[in-house]
Amino acid sequence: MDVISIGLLGLGTVGSGVVKIIENHQDKLMHQIGCPVKVKKVLVKDIHKERNVQIDKELLTVNPDDILEDSEIDVVIEVMGGIDETKGYLLKALKNKKNVVTANKDLMALHGNQLLTEATSNGCDLFYEASVAGGIPILRGLVEGLASDRITKMMGIVNGTTNFILTKMNKFGSPYEEVLKEAQQLGFAEADPSADVEGLDAARKMAILSTLGFSMPIDLSDVKVEGITGITEEDISYSKKLGYTMKLIGIASRNGEKVEVSVQPALLTETHPLASVNDEYNAVYVYGEAVGETMFYGPGAGSLPTATAVVSDVVGVMKNMRLGVTGNSAISPQYKKSLKTPSE
Ligand code: NAP
Ligand code: HSE
Repeated sequence: MDVISIGLLGLGTVGSGVVKIIENHQDKLMHQIGCPVKVKKVLVKDIHKERNVQIDKELLTVNPDDILEDSEIDVVIEVMGGIDETKGYLLKALKNKKNVVTANKDLMALHGNQLLTEATSNGCDLFYEASVAGGIPILRGLVEGLASDRITKMMGIVNGTTNFILTKMNKFGSPYEEVLKEAQQLGFAEADPSADVEGLDAARKMAILSTLGFSMPIDLSDVKVEGITGITEEDISYSKKLGYTMKLIGIASRNGEKVEVSVQPALLTETHPLASVNDEYNAVYVYGEAVGETMFYGPGAGSLPTATAVVSDVVGVMKNMRLGVTGNSAISPQYKKSLKTPSE
């Protein structure tokens, strides 16, 4: 291959980070993939909007088919968000034999199985590392790094916005609404931040983590969810006086065939390893029967950290392409169950 052509769906917080990493890390990408990577077309809503990344205006389009129907595009990166319309775009990309990388946990938690099935029946990859915990390579960590172990428990801070809000409320007594606005300005929050503060974003991530970690399908509707909207400044300052730190925690545990997953605010002692995970940072504690305790830590939201996971997925896709294989390291076990072995 002379060049890898990318079609980018979305040029917001994550999309602009993707453009910057492709531009600034071209030498590293060349080394990894063996040829240059270039962004060929970018889908946006508003072509005339001011951007915080340098981009040739000629690359921008409002017509998704300029990407989905372009036979020269090798990989479609989806960082536009949304569910139904976006799912349609990704199914079309896969039908047109394009590999897909997405950061969209809303979509993967709800329709991951269908999309992964479509990917495999078209001989394509669908990678989604950035959908959980931003820049932390947690999906690969679970599916590859801990592939030989039986995971029994995961516990984590998997939403950057709520962790940012709770940290500022705890450290400085900042008012909730003010810090939420700051998280939105910094690009951590979802387009509709109610998904963050009501715990749904964390629930989607816990559903993805549990499906992969426990190798069994976990439905989003089975995750018990409580967000932070009921937490007052008084709750925070009172718990601080008692020596506790308030965090929004996702917990998933397996007992035999039974799995329980929940997201809720919790009071942690100040010495608890998750109590010192602050601002937009995330951390996921994973317990495996053989390995014991492990902890994955890093920036859980934001432009460049999330884009790092996205572009690393592109590298994974391209390495597969060069080897002539498809193999989703983060393949859904739900999907695997629907596969028949040759003897069946
Ligand atoms: P964002 O800043 O709101 O950017 C969305 C981009 O998509 C914008 O460029 C927008 O175009 C474009 N877009 C949205 N709807 C479109 C449509 N119907 N047609 C054409 N273009 C459309 O969002 P983001 O924060 O980058 O997040 C993108 C995705 O990454 C989401 O799935 C999010 O959950 C996920 N994610 C975000 C983070 C983070 O830290 N922000 C971290 C991990 C995962 P315009 O610019 O013209 O408006
Ligand atoms: N809104 C999400 C968060 C973005 O705050 O964690 C990263 O998935």
